[in-house]
Amino acid sequence: MTKETENRKAEHLKIGIAEDVQFKEKTTGFEKVGFKGVELEYKTLPEMDKKEVKLETSFLGKDFKAPLMVEAITGGVKEAKKINKDIAKACEELGIGMGLGSQRAMIEDPLLKDTYFVRDVAPTIFLAGNIGVTELGKYSVKELEKAIESIKADALAVHVNAAQAAMQPEKETDFKGRLKEIKKLAKEFKKPVYVKEVGHGIGFETAKALAKTGIKAIDVGGAGGTSWTAIDSKRGNKKVGETFWDIGISTADSIVQCRKAFEGKIIASGGIRTGLDCAKAIALGADLCGMALPVLKAQQKEGSEGVTKLLEKVIEELRIAMFLAGAKNLKEMRGKAVVKN
Ligand SMILES: Cc1cc2nc3c(=O)[nH]c(=O)nc-3n(C[C@H](O)[C@H](O)[C@H](O)COP(=O)(O)O)c2cc1C
Repeated sequence: MTKETENRKAEHLKIGIAEDVQFKEKTTGFEKVGFKGVELEYKTLPEMDKKEVKLETSFLGKDFKAPLMVEAITGGVKEAKKINKDIAKACEELGIGMGLGSQRAMIEDPLLKDTYFVRDVAPTIFLAGNIGVTELGKYSVKELEKAIESIKADALAVHVNAAQAAMQPEKETDFKGRLKEIKKLAKEFKKPVYVKEVGHGIGFETAKALAKTGIKAIDVGGAGGTSWTAIDSKRGNKKVGETFWDIGISTADSIVQCRKAFEGKIIASGGIRTGLDCAKAIALGADLCGMALPVLKAQQKEGSEGVTKLLEKVIEELRIAMFLAGAKNLKEMRGKAVVKN
């Protein structure tokens, strides 16, 4: 791997763990602030037993015990091996999905495969590989397939990150022709391809354009959680970092916009912090929810057990929220949101 890629991955981990890099003013939209935000329907008499709530679902051909995944975090650096294994172990225990960090590092240096490989501790769960959209022109479909095969992932997530890239010292800001490349990849790749933002959201027009590419899912990666302009401006353009810290489309808004434009699966991520957030995201039209930074922090504090504890709490909160909305399953949860403007 080039020193540049290695340093970048290590710095992302270091800054994400140690510094305050969440959005400042902008929120996910899930909170209720006065009369603004998203509330769930509250059924005073839900006419069901909480024990009846069923959270099972499937996503891109894999079964999930709850509609949750850990979002892409790392790979390619020394620390990544333990982080990924700890997270994967917890996900396998809970029967939920997991995304791995950008595989650019292991394509550049195949010896780094080890820092991504988690199938020994997570043989059954949905696993997503990852690559940046600006890398698509550099690697052939075959090379990308090999990267996915070698870690036995089920799908490839292509991350789109214009806001982040604009802050980075590496200046990889050429986003011309990327839709065409996504379309080619989705058509030729043997496994499902989906597109994810990293924390600044996907709006209606982009979702509409993505709907024509043949991708199987959109992960909205909305604003309100981890700010990637914050993280990368700490490494790069500090002068403009403050200005763009809160740029992007709130997660709740992004789900609504993507749902209108895209019929495939939608993952809600970016600032999902509780099972109540997750319930609201599903009510707005998401199929799965994803979390990154709080999982990394739990792993750093208490290893795999910490991750399990955090995610168990989120799952239990989701179960309670569905019970209180009178929804026995995820299908019934759709439309249970009350949006307050
Ligand atoms: C330390 C760290 C590294 C990340 N690396 C990647 C990556 O390699 N590829 C990617 O698509 N997203 C990456 N992300 C973004 C997350 O997958 C997620 O989209 C984003 O952090 C928003 O979710 P959150 O608010 O729950 O953290 C990373 C996140 C963190 C915290």
